[in-house]
Amino acid sequence: MVAAWAACLCGHGEANSRTLLLLISKKATPTMSMLGFLKPPHLGWVVRNLRDALVDKLKGSPRRPEQARAYVEANATRGDPASVLATLDDFARHQRFLMNVGPEKGQLLEAEVDRAGKNARILEVGCYCGYSAILMARRLGEQGRITSLEKSGTSVAAARAIVDFAGLSGAVEIRHGASSELIPTLEGNFDLVFLDHWKDLYEPDLRAIEAAHLLRPGSIVFADNVGSLFDPKQYLAYVRECGHYESRSEESHIEYTKLPDCAEISVFLG
Ligand SMILES: C[S@@+](CC[C@H](N)C(=O)[O-])C[C@H]1O[C@@H](n2cnc3c(N)ncnc32)[C@H](O)[C@@H]1O
Repeated sequence: MVAAWAACLCGHGEANSRTLLLLISKKATPTMSMLGFLKPPHLGWVVRNLRDALVDKLKGSPRRPEQARAYVEANATRGDPASVLATLDDFARHQRFLMNVGPEKGQLLEAEVDRAGKNARILEVGCYCGYSAILMARRLGEQGRITSLEKSGTSVAAARAIVDFAGLSGAVEIRHGASSELIPTLEGNFDLVFLDHWKDLYEPDLRAIEAAHLLRPGSIVFADNVGSLFDPKQYLAYVRECGHYESRSEESHIEYTKLPDCAEISVFLG
């Protein structure tokens, strides 16, 4: 259900009119706190995004990642990651919301990439338009690599084009499929795992990552959007209480807004 909310709000490739109507008619029975979205601080943002999604749907506009790709290709400088990120930020602020990690939480993520090192092997779950993949890849050295998992074909195509436009396709491999199918196929250790897909999958997918032996002692797990809006209690309880992680919360804001959000940064102890 979190997926349905986020997909609708972000005009995601897999969002469909039925999902949108379900949400508008409130017939949905979300497993997350629907009230969290309907609190006054979030309400204006939710309404604006639903309006934009509805307008795009009625106009038959391209899907959001395709719009972002066209905007980047028209406005950014090829081969310049900073210009591509700034152009995506501009699109998200002034055209249509994009569920990128964004520049504010991006700084927290960049600090963890630096901690992981220039040659880090990074696993990202949830690629979308490739924003965070570009943000991370531009800090890596020649040996550093990112494997990014994305289940939406629309996003995979857009992200591959945007990452290529940024000149970083040598460092970023985007795999198409659902995390539950792809995680068991991965091998070796990752120095940093960035969880940024649907929030109710964080906990089961982290357990799957552990079961596939993809973490080593010292691996960093960065989980985005764990603040009051999405509130993934099960995930937070797991990383804070299972005894395998040293975990801390960093306060921030939902990308491109002043709405409160947090990132949970956990170091695997083995
Ligand atoms: C918040 S966006 C990712 C944003 C991206 N990390 C960034 O900051 O630029 C979430 C993405 O996760 C993808 N996703 C959701 N569930 C997934 C799953 N089970 N496996 C792979 N991708 C998934 C969605 O299609 C969506 O594109």
